[in-house]
Amino acid sequence: MAKLKGLLLAGGTGSRLRPLTYTGAKQLIPVANRPILFYAVDAIVSAGVEEIGVIIGDTGNEVRTALGDGSEFGCRFTYIPQSQPLGLAHAVKTARPFLGTSPFLMFLGDNLLRGGLSRLANRFSEGGFAASILLTEVKDPTQFGVAVVQEGRVVRLVEKPKSPPSNLALVGAYCFGPMIHEAIDQLQPSWRNEYEITDAIQALIDQHLAVDATLVEGWWKDTGRPEDVLEANRLVLEDIQSQVDGLVDEASQLEGRVIVGPGAEVHRSTIRGPVSIASGARVQDSYIGPYTSIGQSVLISHTEIENSVVLPDSKIVEVNGRIDQSLIGRGVTVSGVQSRPRAVHLILGDQSRIDL
Ligand code: G1P
Repeated sequence: MAKLKGLLLAGGTGSRLRPLTYTGAKQLIPVANRPILFYAVDAIVSAGVEEIGVIIGDTGNEVRTALGDGSEFGCRFTYIPQSQPLGLAHAVKTARPFLGTSPFLMFLGDNLLRGGLSRLANRFSEGGFAASILLTEVKDPTQFGVAVVQEGRVVRLVEKPKSPPSNLALVGAYCFGPMIHEAIDQLQPSWRNEYEITDAIQALIDQHLAVDATLVEGWWKDTGRPEDVLEANRLVLEDIQSQVDGLVDEASQLEGRVIVGPGAEVHRSTIRGPVSIASGARVQDSYIGPYTSIGQSVLISHTEIENSVVLPDSKIVEVNGRIDQSLIGRGVTVSGVQSRPRAVHLILGDQSRIDL
């Protein structure tokens, strides 16, 4: 079988992650101090794919700058601008000149899969299927594409069903043969005015073509909402190994697995892992608790924080009480008020969220 190409989707508006996505692509939000999109690229490359088309939208320049030409990842990127975010099938249609008649592996750039994509790619390449998809059991199938499977074959698919026929959701990873393009050409927009890849796969089934499905091994996380980013951060930190390249003074304690990046400094503080502290960050007189990622050049001073993600260049200083379950953007300042009156002063961007 011809070699698989890759199609990585890195467009979309990230509306549920505002205000962070006003100034950056949702796929570039870091978990464990690495953009979510980089894990997606690694997964595609590990599945043996070398040519990857990257669908980009309004945040295209930022995505190009972050990913480069692919040499850092061991692959080659072709950037494919999508005029409007009209759905996954529209993205495939836009990429058709790049894809040609090659079979391809498509992955959503804001998805994380612990078990990777190799098993999906191998099943597809060896099985002679029109498509292979990955499924996982979910609590609320109405939020996803949902599949009915009989004896390892998909017999029916519905996008965001009101009465789900099963609890098996499509995760954002698919392999396709070239027949998918004809199916896409026949599509009508869905109720949400998108061209749904789920409907295109159903069209393959209607033509009696074999669509293969397997269950995800390990975890899968779609990082559409702030709470998902925090959970993805927890899941990825769960797998880190300790590595201290920065400076940790004698008055500090590191407990559990902790990464301290080059040029980072920890003074008079307790760090209870799993925690990732990026290069150039400074933590002083503070407590950093489990499942926290502190970004590059962040300052944490006289503060307690856990279960949180702090993006680069922010300052968190003398905050009263512990910061928990928080996602803090770039260049943000959070500081405690030590003088009276101890009122709360807020300068918040549009669609910020703060729980006091
Ligand atoms: C898309 C797909 C859906 C799939 C989901 C996985 O949904 O349309 O079938 O279950 O990704 O994340 P969307 O993110 O566009 O709502």
